[in-house]
Amino acid sequence: EKNGYDHFMLKEIYEQPNVIKDTYRGRLHTDTGMIKMAGVEDNLQKFLNANRILIVACGTSWHAGLVAEYIFEEFARIPVEVEYASEFRYRNPIINKDDVVIAISQSGETADTLAAIKMAKENGAFVFGVCNVVGSSISRETHAGAYTHAGPEIGVASTKAFTTQITVLTLIALRLANAKGTLTKSDYFRYLQEMELIPQKVEEALQTNDVAQKVAAAYKDASNCLYLGRGYNFPVALEGALKLKEISYIHAEGYPAAEMKHGPIALIDEQMPVVVVAPKQEHYDKIVSNIQEIKSRSGKIIAVVTKGDTQVKDLADHVIEIPEVSDALSPLVTTIPLQLLSYHIAVMRGCNVDQPRNLAKSVTVE
Ligand code: M6R
Repeated sequence: EKNGYDHFMLKEIYEQPNVIKDTYRGRLHTDTGMIKMAGVEDNLQKFLNANRILIVACGTSWHAGLVAEYIFEEFARIPVEVEYASEFRYRNPIINKDDVVIAISQSGETADTLAAIKMAKENGAFVFGVCNVVGSSISRETHAGAYTHAGPEIGVASTKAFTTQITVLTLIALRLANAKGTLTKSDYFRYLQEMELIPQKVEEALQTNDVAQKVAAAYKDASNCLYLGRGYNFPVALEGALKLKEISYIHAEGYPAAEMKHGPIALIDEQMPVVVVAPKQEHYDKIVSNIQEIKSRSGKIIAVVTKGDTQVKDLADHVIEIPEVSDALSPLVTTIPLQLLSYHIAVMRGCNVDQPRNLAKSVTVE
């Protein structure tokens, strides 16, 4: 059932254009400007009255939550806090009945996330689930929800669950923005239209596979790796680092690019590969200067850039080119080459890509 692919992970990476489409199909109506999700519509007032949205999740789902924080705040102007479910459940958090809690989980069985949901419910919050597995514990325990339509994810390293989670969360943010009037009509329609172009853009991003493989060959023996990104692409840097460490066992860390000078820059020498997520986006010039700082310390720069980029290209050791995409939707595209890069590195190191050591697909124990 790997469909001719060597591993489930690679198959799942390549499924992304289709499953993203499956996830917005029937929900996104660009012609009429409507977004229809029963779980959101039935509870619209709760979302609109929310003083804040609390997102709880673990691992990759937590990274999707961080992307959602940026999107919700920008589109719908609702304050968002993102928490590790494991911390949230044990720290006596402040939960009000006007809070909306969104729990994100591929498996719908993660013990810490489930416990966080129960706690939020006991405190009177409205709890909304974003799950992939239909009928899972979390989908049953939440008051309402919206499924991702990623299909079964077998590889322990989450890939298509991540991009479909971001898809669902973006639709919710757009729905709320439309109800609140926090986006201009033209921006709102532009995002709906662009959402429909995402599968095509992800398809194009998948064409970076050969380049990702070449870059992988050059760095497969590294013992450390840094990932940097800004804004919407800061969580993408975290996710890139998690993918690399879990399947290749290379120590990797993700940082917001500007945090480099507060510590991690001390690590940089000619042995250190630094993956910089640097598409044309707001504050592009800032990331260019971050790259210059790495270069002047002889770090090796692997940059994910927008097609046609010249500035970063001149500085980087390797560039991976992705199609142009607006800042808010860029994580859906920039994340693709990072998945491919870690996949190839893990394969070249002879690792068990689909079932990395010490890890389980669903973490049902705390
Ligand atoms: O099933 P969940 O989304 O709740 O799982 C959360 C994490 O355990 C999961 O994302 C984990 O971090 C993955 N192995 C990451 O690739």
